[in-house]
Amino acid sequence: MSRIYEALQKAESERKLERREPELRIPEQSAPTAMNAAAAVAEPEETLVSARYSGDLTIDAPYSQGPPHFTGPGSLDLSIIPHRPWALSLSQLPALLERGPAVEQFRSLRSRIFELRDISPLKTILVSSGLPQEGKSFISTNLALSLARHKNSKVLLIDGDMRRYTLHQILGCESNPGLADYLAGKASITEVMQRPEPLQSPTPGATPILPNLTFIAGGNGGDKAADLSGSPRFGELIRQTTPYFDWIIVDSSPVLPVSDAVNLARSCDGVLLVARGGVTKFSVAQRAQSELKASNILGFVLNAVLEMPQVGSYYGYDSTKQ
Ligand SMILES: Nc1ncnc2c1ncn2[C@@H]1O[C@H](COP(=O)(O)OP(=O)(O)OP(=O)(O)O)[C@@H](O)[C@H]1O
Ligand SMILES: [Mg+2]
Repeated sequence: MSRIYEALQKAESERKLERREPELRIPEQSAPTAMNAAAAVAEPEETLVSARYSGDLTIDAPYSQGPPHFTGPGSLDLSIIPHRPWALSLSQLPALLERGPAVEQFRSLRSRIFELRDISPLKTILVSSGLPQEGKSFISTNLALSLARHKNSKVLLIDGDMRRYTLHQILGCESNPGLADYLAGKASITEVMQRPEPLQSPTPGATPILPNLTFIAGGNGGDKAADLSGSPRFGELIRQTTPYFDWIIVDSSPVLPVSDAVNLARSCDGVLLVARGGVTKFSVAQRAQSELKASNILGFVLNAVLEMPQVGSYYGYDSTKQ
């Protein structure tokens, strides 16, 4: 991990030098669909990509196989999970695009995760960061969608931030009942799960999208979130759902102000940390890693990078070449 920090630190100091600013901030986005994302996980010298995303949102549905068939050795009857209407916030979901730099970045992140899975078992990934607003929810949701689009993988996306749960807003669905209700013993696993009703692409005649994504919203943990996140019921949830899914992605709260993510991480195979380009300080990234030292940290995702840092052997993704 030291190479990752070296890279982050070096990139930060180079940007400071370039712009001659004591602190770097990302400029406000000029339009709702203007988005910059960069993804790197582990060994960023080889994997860091940076590109701008802006463009028309067109979704070609790649799925024509119909709804996934959930079977498994466990005791859950996933056929009873309700299908609910979702209204995706497409501007926050570049992973749904067919092409373009942003979708390439999430594919790149996905590939790195596949490589890590080849080395050791990896199915449940918690996404966290040091502080609020670094892009945890953005990365978790788009990573889950990117994984779900790969060979119709079955993906469970869990909003593990029971204080500032936002994934239901990105997906445009209900937030209750959710994880907090399950952890408090007020609902069963299948009662807090939901799937989208067949979603139609804006393109006329398109086939449904996302039939293989299952979602657990945050529910409202409020001031009980810390206690709830420490409940053994979360481990039970992961254990029971694991046989039915190829991937389980868990969004979480920032690790420095509250301990929830550290608690949830104990039941996950790995942790992906997010650092926001031009915002996350090296010391914050370092402390975030330290808080999660008992977990298997997979690497950092460098999010919202405007310019490609010229560090070592990094390579950049040229958004003009598609
Ligand atoms: N790569 C990106 N490009 C453009 N906007 C982004 C990017 N990443 C995140 N954002 C936006 O920044 C804001 C914060 O992102 P997000 O909610 O994912 O952060 P978070 O770390 O989950 O925050 P919190 O700790 O409050 O839950 C959101 O409005 C999101 O749409
Ligand atoms: Mg969030």
